Amino acid sequence: MSHEHEPHQFSVMDVLEQRWSPRAFDRDEVLDENRLGPAFEAARWSPSSGNSQPWTFMVGFRGDDVFQTIVGTMASGNQVWAEHAGAVVANIASVVDAEGNPQSHAVYDLGQAVAHFSVQATAEGLMVHQMGGFDAQTLGRELELDSSQRVVTLMAIGSMGDPAELPEKLQLREAQPRSRKSLSEIVRGSAHYA
Ligand SMILES: Cc1cc2nc3c(=O)[nH]c(=O)nc-3n(C[C@H](O)[C@H](O)[C@H](O)COP(=O)(O)O)c2cc1C
Repeated sequence: MSHEHEPHQFSVMDVLEQRWSPRAFDRDEVLDENRLGPAFEAARWSPSSGNSQPWTFMVGFRGDDVFQTIVGTMASGNQVWAEHAGAVVANIASVVDAEGNPQSHAVYDLGQAVAHFSVQATAEGLMVHQMGGFDAQTLGRELELDSSQRVVTLMAIGSMGDPAELPEKLQLREAQPRSRKSLSEIVRGSAHYA
């Protein structure tokens, strides 16, 4: 299901057009490793600095302990909808390598892996909503990460649900058209766009 948005200036692949970040997830859907497999495979094969692959994905399925731990560290405004997703994932960057050197591109690489994940997930009929609103320090402690690892973002994953099940304020946000800066604002130099 795509979402109303401003017209594209150029057409893009269907999955990119269809991807957006919903809050209404199917509350009954049960996800498992097979359902998420293609998206994790896409993340696995994304490029990274020196092929360092500085990412780990901590997965919880709705109802299990990992799920509860991750949801428990979310900002309340995220918890209220994300607790109904089929899965939540903590996206973890290894910011220090095995020799103790900083991996300065780790967060960038993780973000790119998550982007590939979300595009593949969309192709599989799943929606992905990324979050920065959570307590990263507490989650890192509860997941027993060492100091070389940092939880950068979370994802809620699942099929689209019924927006009518959301609190009224979120129903309104869910219906808002999506918008973006124009190409002329974000692309500079010798390339000129309207
Ligand atoms: C790093 C990052 C952090 C985000 N944090 C939150 C968040 O805490 N809560 C939320 O509802 N959405 C969050 N989002 C989703 C963005 O608000 C959303 O991607 C943006 O508004 C564009 O909308 P779209 O994904 O539907 O195109 C986050 C997205 C990213 C990439």
